[in-house]
Amino acid sequence: MTFDLPEDLREARRHVRAFARAEIAPHAARRDEEGTFPRATLAEMGALGLLGVTTPERYGGAGLDMAAYVVFLEEIAAADASLATLMAVTNGLPQKMLLDHGSEAQKEAYLPPLASGRAFGAFCLSEPHAGSDAAALRTRAVRDGDGWRLRGTKAWVTGGGEADLYLVLAVTEPDAGARGVTAFLVPAGSDGLSFGAPERKLGQHAAVTTTVNLDDVPVDDADRLGRTGEGFVAAMASLDGGRIGIAAQSVGIARAAFHHALRYADERRAFGRRIREFQGVSFPLAEMATRIDAARLLTRRAAWAMDRGFRVTKEASMAKLHASETAGFVTDAALQILGGAGYTRDHPVERYVRDARVTRIYEGTSEIQKVVVARQLVRDLERGELDGPGPAEGGVE
Ligand code: CAA
Repeated sequence: MTFDLPEDLREARRHVRAFARAEIAPHAARRDEEGTFPRATLAEMGALGLLGVTTPERYGGAGLDMAAYVVFLEEIAAADASLATLMAVTNGLPQKMLLDHGSEAQKEAYLPPLASGRAFGAFCLSEPHAGSDAAALRTRAVRDGDGWRLRGTKAWVTGGGEADLYLVLAVTEPDAGARGVTAFLVPAGSDGLSFGAPERKLGQHAAVTTTVNLDDVPVDDADRLGRTGEGFVAAMASLDGGRIGIAAQSVGIARAAFHHALRYADERRAFGRRIREFQGVSFPLAEMATRIDAARLLTRRAAWAMDRGFRVTKEASMAKLHASETAGFVTDAALQILGGAGYTRDHPVERYVRDARVTRIYEGTSEIQKVVVARQLVRDLERGELDGPGPAEGGVE
């Protein structure tokens, strides 16, 4: 067993960290103020391979594994959570679903622009009436000649109005529940596709979020992704990997807040001492560091297991649950250590607090992660796999 990163991954991390510190972090506060979609920065990230990390090289990706992906995503998130969200969505959802379920023609057409950052891919699952209850979709896809027509409204779509490709989950068999949902690829500019105004959000302002309206959008059958009726299961399976990404993002935000608070506690003096000398400050710092390490270990364990072909539904939800709750705890504790200074925009900590909050909501709330973990525990019990080898034991075989 080892906790070391391989030397090539450490080297790659040095490059990504240097890029994130030089090119991303200095502009994070401005992006937060302006709330504009960071197309130029995404193109730079694409050129570095960060927007198609696990996509094979033959489709224009970097051809790396989830272990590398979570290491890179943590670095980007520590610099700017909005860019980490955009990186997580385009890598983890449209590209993953294309890789797992796309035809060769679909992969060749759509993956190279997405993986290189020339195009951005959005994921349209949630609806105004179907957030946590994702199978309760109302968006319909009905047959129209050789193709389909899509009608409905998608909510909280990251990159809405900015993306080049929309992966849309729609009901094709209304009485079949989760087995009646199909995935479609809808290019920007399609007839009948329109967008709401950008949501006015608490944080992550540059990860622009809108509703997506589908008003009888025509879609060729060649742009149906995977088999009819298998879209929901495919989306859930992609969310396993997606949630590992949100866990890595949460670790990155928490790390940034922790480092800022630690430096501040080392410099700031009160009652004749550095404030880190008071247990009221040093104990929270110790707890922050411990929780971040635990979150990072869970995240890397889930990535490790996914790279080895294990089903990671439980491990991904555990990592996402713990890491996003950690990001909430750590950013709040960091702000408390800074006191009044932390509540102002003179420091980035209030932004970290705002940016971290949604990690407990998107790609499944903390409550949904508990539902998923609990269901998987019963599944393990019924299969007699509670003590079996594999990721449940932390990867020790
Ligand atoms: N892998 C493979 N198959 C899965 C699966 C997984 N992880 N999860 C579910 N399935 C399968 C089930 O086995 C089942 O298949 P069968 O028909 O063969 O039995 C089918 O999918 C239906 O599953 P459930 O019966 O468990 O479905 P449910 O209606 O009870 O819902 C849920 C389960 C876990 C609550 C699910 O609805 C869920 O995850 N909700 C949260 C939605 C979510 O995460 N949304 C995120 C939006 S995307 C986003 O946020 C991106 C962004 O912009 C940042």
